[in-house]
Amino acid sequence: MTEENKAPFDSSSDNYSEEGPRRKFIVVSTLAVSAVCGVFPFAAGITTLLDPVKKSAGNKEKVPWTKVAPLVNLSEDGKPAKYEIILEKVKDAWTTYKNVPAGAVYLSRKGEEVTAFNLKCPHLGCAVDYRSKSDDYFCPCHNSTFGLDGSVTDANSPSPRGLDTMDTKVEDGFVWIRFQHFRPNIVEKIPLA
Ligand code: FES
Repeated sequence: MTEENKAPFDSSSDNYSEEGPRRKFIVVSTLAVSAVCGVFPFAAGITTLLDPVKKSAGNKEKVPWTKVAPLVNLSEDGKPAKYEIILEKVKDAWTTYKNVPAGAVYLSRKGEEVTAFNLKCPHLGCAVDYRSKSDDYFCPCHNSTFGLDGSVTDANSPSPRGLDTMDTKVEDGFVWIRFQHFRPNIVEKIPLA
């Protein structure tokens, strides 16, 4: 058979009939990806909206008091102890959430006065450790060190400020705190809003 006598391309062959489903698949996949891209930022926005700490951070007076621990549980020699902060109730427009974990603090006591440091390093937010041997705080991520008063003790520490303090009070024998997070890696201590 010569080239001219060859049968023309048969459009009803298998190759052609697979084209429809393939196209459909591409269109459906594209729509699915677009939908995910659209929904993700929205979901992230909802998370931010519900974040109990961020919601009231801008105005300190609006930050609710949270009960942390009995005062007698804190060592009288000022040795820090770590406590998780659980917010009793967090409300949004539709729902009330109970016992919401918000972060952690170190509490230390001098008589009836209690100091609270956010556990997050002011550099980039890693968890700071209390080292009982050297009686100071240390961030293992980039080696920032802080004294018991929260100040930066080593000039090579990358943290731009000391540990972040928060308001505390003692009422009915319990320590209460206005728990907040702060912007990382800047000199000023600015609540996240
Ligand atoms: S996050 Fe703590 S030193 Fe960098």
